[in-house]
Amino acid sequence: MEVGDDLLGRVKILENRFHGEISQVANDQELLRLKACYLGKQGHLAEVLRGLGQMPSEQRPLLGQEANRLKQVIDHSCRDTLKRFEDEKKQKKLAQGVVDLTLPGRSAVLGSAHPLRQTMEEVEDIFLHLGFSIFEGPDVEQDYYNFAALNISANHPARDMQDTFYIDGDFLGGHVGPPLLRTHTSPVQIHVMESHKPPIRMIAPGAVYRRDSDITHTPMFHQVEGLVVDQEVRFSDLQGIVALFLRKFFGKRGVRFRPSYFPFTEPSAEVDLACAACEGKKDKSACRLCSGTGWLEVMGCGMVHPNVLRHVKYNPEKLTGFAFGMGIERMAMLRLGIPDIRLFYENDLRFLRQF
Ligand code: PHE
Repeated sequence: MEVGDDLLGRVKILENRFHGEISQVANDQELLRLKACYLGKQGHLAEVLRGLGQMPSEQRPLLGQEANRLKQVIDHSCRDTLKRFEDEKKQKKLAQGVVDLTLPGRSAVLGSAHPLRQTMEEVEDIFLHLGFSIFEGPDVEQDYYNFAALNISANHPARDMQDTFYIDGDFLGGHVGPPLLRTHTSPVQIHVMESHKPPIRMIAPGAVYRRDSDITHTPMFHQVEGLVVDQEVRFSDLQGIVALFLRKFFGKRGVRFRPSYFPFTEPSAEVDLACAACEGKKDKSACRLCSGTGWLEVMGCGMVHPNVLRHVKYNPEKLTGFAFGMGIERMAMLRLGIPDIRLFYENDLRFLRQF
């Protein structure tokens, strides 16, 4: 007999032997061992293939093909057998009652938007329906946008180091002064007016930063700014829009405008919402929410100061406008009855799951 025939014959014999042996295998470990016996580096198949070199070259491809075929046969039956073992184990467990099919399934854990994001989106929705557009500005600002262009003079207390985070370094370019973290969203008013022609009807949501930290203040919080500029915009337009917004956001509650001061609006007002906790009660002085005044401050607003319009090269003889700004944390706390602003940032699931 030729060497080639001999080797081909051995492949056939191996195949028969394998089928015989795998039918005897009882568990995973034996199966792995058997597979290694045939397909491992020192296994039967490797041994046969070592004889390849002595074969006449025209017979080599045939032996190669046969060896590959046998390798696949072994692979497949090992996989099938393993699957059979697993199925059997499962059936056995079921039969023993280890798996209780009457138990409820495990439900997937669903996340939800953070209460601040939910509040922000609700505010945005209301203004989008009123025809406002949404703009964003940078968190890192120049003095000009955060202060000067907003008519906040060089010695205004709001510029004090106590309130503003200044940033080391001069990456905005030498002449503009040290960069700072914006202390309000009002600089977005300037950016939008610089780059757009009136009429303007926009809101600008975003993070703001102040050197402040206690039960009602965090060094970072969020505001939504509003700005409307056009011909013949009046204070009554401001009142109408603000009242409409508050009505949609808080439901039917008392609203009042109280004279106030901001450098970038004139006249300016603070908007108060009737306190829901003590309204109608005789002893208002006991109310912790409004400290007995019956009113809660919710936003600042006013008619855009002519100096601000001049800074963006709008003509204050022809154009008027109003602006407002509110704190999102405060809106969310009042609406959802949250007592401490720091809860928003602690990522405590017991808090977050309530919303
Ligand atoms: N920027 C003011 C603040 O942060 C709020 C405000 C905005 C007031 C627009 C008037 C007009 O307190």
